[in-house]
Amino acid sequence: MNDTQEKKHEDTNSNSPLGVRGSIGIFDSGYGGLTILEKIKEALPDNDFIYLGDNARTPYGTRSFEVVYKYTLQCVTQLFEMGCHLIILACNTASAKALRTIQQNDLPILDPNRRVLGVIRPTIEIIGDLTQSKHVGLLATTGTVQSNSYPLEIKKIFPEIIVSSEACPMWVPLIENNEHLSDGADYFIKKNLDQILKTDPLIDTLILGCTHYPLLINKIYKYLPKNVKVITQGEIVAKSLVDYLNRHPEIDSRCTKNGKIEYFTTESTDKFKSSASIFLNAEIVAKHINID
Ligand code: DGL
Repeated sequence: MNDTQEKKHEDTNSNSPLGVRGSIGIFDSGYGGLTILEKIKEALPDNDFIYLGDNARTPYGTRSFEVVYKYTLQCVTQLFEMGCHLIILACNTASAKALRTIQQNDLPILDPNRRVLGVIRPTIEIIGDLTQSKHVGLLATTGTVQSNSYPLEIKKIFPEIIVSSEACPMWVPLIENNEHLSDGADYFIKKNLDQILKTDPLIDTLILGCTHYPLLINKIYKYLPKNVKVITQGEIVAKSLVDYLNRHPEIDSRCTKNGKIEYFTTESTDKFKSSASIFLNAEIVAKHINID
């Protein structure tokens, strides 16, 4: 993970007592971050996690920069209050639109010793090894596509790679409403896949740049030519987090390790329980939390 910002803060005074420890916070606008949490907990089975889904205000992908930033900061502050010292924005839209401002402007005031990390940088870092044709496609929310974060960041590390982007505004609502396995979902999935391959037929690697999209993976494969690789972020982010904690023992030592996971949603707990349990194939009990 990109820790340039963190280095700047290492010598500053802490607002949080160094002896206090807490869970790792995993944040998403809704259920998508569960696809990241699933892989992170496989990689770090002893760690404690708090998952926060802002389901009441999802989707973020069609909202303005100001609104995504405001909502994300509220959720980050909430996770800090719950004792998290390290938060992963398991949401590309929040990573694209709010992460930098939170790291640069808010963390120094809220608590310079806490960390907030995103999912875009770790994904970009490995993309050069995956594409042969050097033509990469990005499927993401309208917000992530409009932010241009992926093409700009990829250009910095791999200037030879050509990136084409396609916003898929219907995909998150289909998932949040548990319609993603219905026949109706196929129409929108095929439409966006056809469009991006029409934009650049040389694409051999497609980034699913929204943490909700792995829940559509079977349908995505159904409409893609065999030569196109699909990149999901769960394992990439999990590996990057393990590496980050190894490089930052001062953060790792502030993460509690009892193998416990707590789930919070801003929506109804019944709705979260039924949908999250389908996505994770396990019984998920969430608590309700008000954030505004
Ligand atoms: N899962 C999110 C992402 O990775 C956000 C989807 C949304 O709320 O629109 O972008």
